Amino acid sequence: MSQIRGRFSKAADKRAAEFTASIHSDWRLYSHDIAGSIAHARMLGKQGIITGQEAETIIKALTDIREEIEQGKLEFKPELEDIHMSIEARLLEKVGEVGGKLHTARSRNDQVALDLRLFTKEAISGALSSLRELQQALVTKAGASIDVVIPGYTHLQRAQPVLLAHHLLAYFEMLQRDKERFNDCFKRTDVLPLGSGALAGVAYEIDRDSVAKELGFSRVSPNSIDAVSDRDFLLEYEAAASLCMMHLSRLAEEIILWSSEEFGFIELDDAYATGSSIMPQKKNPDTAELIRGKTGRVYGQLMALLTTMKALPLAYNRDIQEDKEGFFDIVDTLLSSLKVFTGMITTLKVKTENTRKATEQGYVLATDIADYLVKKGEPFRTAHDIVARLIGYAAEKEKTFTQLELTEYQRFSPLFDNNVYSITVESSVAARNNAGGTAPQRVTEALSRAKKMLGGSTDGN
Ligand code: ARG
Repeated sequence: MSQIRGRFSKAADKRAAEFTASIHSDWRLYSHDIAGSIAHARMLGKQGIITGQEAETIIKALTDIREEIEQGKLEFKPELEDIHMSIEARLLEKVGEVGGKLHTARSRNDQVALDLRLFTKEAISGALSSLRELQQALVTKAGASIDVVIPGYTHLQRAQPVLLAHHLLAYFEMLQRDKERFNDCFKRTDVLPLGSGALAGVAYEIDRDSVAKELGFSRVSPNSIDAVSDRDFLLEYEAAASLCMMHLSRLAEEIILWSSEEFGFIELDDAYATGSSIMPQKKNPDTAELIRGKTGRVYGQLMALLTTMKALPLAYNRDIQEDKEGFFDIVDTLLSSLKVFTGMITTLKVKTENTRKATEQGYVLATDIADYLVKKGEPFRTAHDIVARLIGYAAEKEKTFTQLELTEYQRFSPLFDNNVYSITVESSVAARNNAGGTAPQRVTEALSRAKKMLGGSTDGN
């Protein structure tokens, strides 16, 4: 069996055949294709569309074919076009004509949609459990560094002190939303398209519900035309993956900055860094850089599929075959990025002497000093202005807040007294004790909440 050529008088041009083939990428759907075919054959047998004996023969052969593929014994040939034809051709080789009955009441259009949905459901589960592992790593690192304060930044300028744990838990929240998005996407992926035929449904008394049940789908698609032409579930996975990669890329960027000599907040484990071929002193954060880099590739694939689907008339068009390569690439990139990130976070060391030093420089307590004046009755805007002038003066004298004499403070406001020296990095974070704030008490609560969320369920939520 080769490509379907029934009504044609010529074989396909070799180049055209290679061009239209997709086996180089869709072989990855083999186990899903076989699972779908087994469920379909069983249903055909039960419904009396084929005999029970024929169904058994087909199912047994399909099970053997799965073995052959897993053991690398089945060679995929480009002239067989795709995974569906490859498996069917092997089935015919094994059982003869009866194998040809498998494709009763089915089209490759509903078949490929089914395979992809089965694959996507697995990919979502994989993403959820890897996201959970990364969240766990962040929580562990946050717990271990609960007393570490870093300067928080806006515009990449030192802004206010925050707990490193609070900063890390910000990423926990992003990943939590990523999980929510994948779970949401799962709901719309969890729909059986088989039974839609080429586009109009099939002219046999099939039992879609039993197939859905066997394959673990909670619903059957309500419109055959939509079911064979819809790739929203792939796009949703890809969009969720893009957002997730964006989050990873932001943390990767911070890790790159933090591990530089200029910041020196962390040291990456040797296992996650690389040397330079020319500069012996280098320890490069290549892993983080590649996560940042691969984010672009994931966005690109999302954009490619959006563009492919745009303006396609109903129902199936061959353009849709272009969905797979980019999708598989995203699935692989996302999973490997999440896994490697988890290891990188787990093994990195925080250099507390440097984080400490960074909070002592750069006037990160300026807001607290303004707040101090506000508590003594000064309107915030005036207090802001006083502290801004005070900083101008201190910077010129090259003094930190603690190095300024009280008399120097008092030149800017008579409200300053000795209590101004009790404003510290610790008092600053402790003061931000409202819900969602960086006070140690709040962050400890946030950590327990996060641990509880991770401990809670088995579906990765
Ligand atoms: N390889 C095809 C794909 O991935 C399978 C569906 C083929 N359908 C068709 N009408 N040519 O989209």
